[in-house]
Amino acid sequence: MAIFTVFGNPVAHSLSPQIHQAFAQQVGVELNYTRSLTSVLRFRRAVAEFFRSGGAGANVTVPFKQQAFDLVTYVTTRAQQAGAVNTLVPLGYGQLLGDNTDGIGLVRDLQKNLQQKLTNRDVVILGAGGAARGVIAPLLEQGVASLTIANRTIEKANLLVEKFGQPTLQACRFEQLTIPTDALVINATSASLTGQKLPLESDELAHAACAYDMMYGAQPTAFMQQARQAGVAVVQDGLGMLVEQAGAAFQLWHEGAELDTQKVIQKLRKTIV
Ligand code: ATR
Repeated sequence: MAIFTVFGNPVAHSLSPQIHQAFAQQVGVELNYTRSLTSVLRFRRAVAEFFRSGGAGANVTVPFKQQAFDLVTYVTTRAQQAGAVNTLVPLGYGQLLGDNTDGIGLVRDLQKNLQQKLTNRDVVILGAGGAARGVIAPLLEQGVASLTIANRTIEKANLLVEKFGQPTLQACRFEQLTIPTDALVINATSASLTGQKLPLESDELAHAACAYDMMYGAQPTAFMQQARQAGVAVVQDGLGMLVEQAGAAFQLWHEGAELDTQKVIQKLRKTIV
């Protein structure tokens, strides 16, 4: 039976095994998808051992995505743009291809599951860390009207603007942020992990038509609560993004697989509440 795994730390909470088993059932393949807890020091060896012992593919989650980027033999363009790898594909002879499906996962969730238009849309990303960097190029590719990166540390947002060098991309501090009418606002900060509210005026957030948190949990995140209080029409967490990025990885490993991701999202939603 083909063996897959997700490398992370912590990893016990990872929903990837459930998601991949659900996809496997949909397409009628048998697989074993495990969780691999490792450390920064042991990551490289753990990956090598997994593939040497016949691993068919792996996902990589926090905090190893950049380390995975550094160790693979080849990277896809989207992984190159993200500067991070979340999916490993063995190519034989010890060689690995690194891909990043986070951005496409977000785009699919927004467009397909939430019917959010991206072309000609004003989009705001909150945060300028790895999570934000991973989704900038896929959002720009959709032809957004503007993409504003708001971050507590302006230097980090400025670096991303320089890196992607697109006229539609701009950076600002939270206090300078003006949210265009009907904008899509995406929280890519890690503030939700610690339940911290973001320094956003309710009046400003109220201009948004959709507020999306890349984090998810049993309860609405602090950002989602802020958005609901501001009266934003569509407020959503990142569970759909998680399932969609997994779907894109599954399709890399099982070429041509047609998946019903919405069914998996609905099923998972019931298990996390
Ligand atoms: P990740 O890989 O999850 O993006 P990261 O690279 O550590 O993690 O980045 C975390 C992001 O969340 C950063 O943009 C950080 O802002 P700074 O660049 O100013 O550090 C942002 N962040 C975390 N906690 C925050 C908070 N309480 N308020 C505002 N921004 C926060």
